[in-house]
Amino acid sequence: MTRTVAPGNAASAVLPAMTPAQGRPFGVYVHVPFCATRCGYCDFNTYTPGELGGANPDEWLAALRSELAQAARHLGRIPEVDTVFVGGGTPSLLGGPGLAAVLDAVRAHFPLADGAEVTTEANPESTSPLLFDQLLGAGYTRVSLGMQSAAEHVLAALDRRHSPGRALAAAREARAAGFDHVNLDLIYGTPGESDDDLLRSVDTVVESGVDHVSAYALVIEDGTAMARRVRRGELVPTDDDVLARRYELLDARLTGAGFAWYEVSNWSRPGGECLHNVGYWNGGQWWGAGPGAHGFVDAVRWWNVKHPSAYAQMLADGRLPVADFEHLDPETLHIEDVMLRVRLRDGLPTSVLSAPERERAAVAVADGLLSPVDDRLVLTDRGRLLADAVVRDLLD
Ligand SMILES: C[S@@+](CC[C@H](N)C(=O)[O-])C[C@H]1O[C@@H](n2cnc3c(N)ncnc32)[C@H](O)[C@@H]1O
Ligand code: SF4
Repeated sequence: MTRTVAPGNAASAVLPAMTPAQGRPFGVYVHVPFCATRCGYCDFNTYTPGELGGANPDEWLAALRSELAQAARHLGRIPEVDTVFVGGGTPSLLGGPGLAAVLDAVRAHFPLADGAEVTTEANPESTSPLLFDQLLGAGYTRVSLGMQSAAEHVLAALDRRHSPGRALAAAREARAAGFDHVNLDLIYGTPGESDDDLLRSVDTVVESGVDHVSAYALVIEDGTAMARRVRRGELVPTDDDVLARRYELLDARLTGAGFAWYEVSNWSRPGGECLHNVGYWNGGQWWGAGPGAHGFVDAVRWWNVKHPSAYAQMLADGRLPVADFEHLDPETLHIEDVMLRVRLRDGLPTSVLSAPERERAAVAVADGLLSPVDDRLVLTDRGRLLADAVVRDLLD
């Protein structure tokens, strides 16, 4: 591994040559590192205007174009792209023309497969009917909106600036513009949330007519404003039994409304699965572009420098903005494969397990955590609540 020192003293590395393996889906992830304000729970690689230190969206877009051009030159074969996911941060802050320019930059260097899925994330605060029209016209096929909760006091605890009604309105506007695929993100288990608050949130999602829901238990990340409030005793974290009950409540409500889980934290109506994320979980490869983005091609995983200024400077110097990389050996690849695929509704093919892992899987089946379906092992309802422990026991 060759390391150098990047501007701002960010460690950097020279990415080894790599050729995407044939026959596996290929995605492009683009990271937009801008947010209007920082939500108290979020530790994503994103910057408010005061934290950018001179970096700005125009400079970022120029750097992104340069990274994608270098990416196409770096790969031993330019693959057809099955999925594009523009995430953040808050991509919707770029506006319709900005997001169209992002997709044009991808298309300038990578051919998109027919029917490619093209998603952008959006904060309901920075969306409008015009934005959705522009996104559809630019070639986006899917929108993912951060809703989190329908309860005003829960949004306040999360430091969200939008009203509960704004996320619902944004989802409806996206559908009215012609988007068949719309996701709403929920967070459950926020301090102060009740079972009724959660059920109201789920009912709002169902009413909105979207075809996809991601629901994650709140993680109180070190270093966030929320972690400081917990330390000061202002917020009390929700205990694990309550989190498990909330998960069961939301799963039952979504299932009753025609959604089905396809990954432990993701539900969709038929045909609404997010193919980009399925690629991550199912052995796909992707180029991750933008500050702090991670990529995975040909058993090499790498990640970019995090700050937008360091990112832009490295590209201006003619280098890929890579902070570091690792070659995943077969054992690590196997561990990751098991960890990710066991969380999918399609389950884990028994054939990928070693003999001792199969013996341990038999114990999980006897304990009612895994269920054999054809030649696969699928988490039971109770197993979904204990997915991390199931994985730990399987891999010993
Ligand atoms: C990039 S944001 C979505 C788009 C936009 N930035 C927004 O927040 O509306 C990705 C999602 O990650 C989830 N998320 C972020 N930090 C989290 C945490 N600490 N615990 C649980 N979910 C979290 C939120 O549900 C959020 O909607
Ligand atoms: S949750 Fe979304 S809007 Fe809030 S800080 Fe994180 S990325 Fe930005």
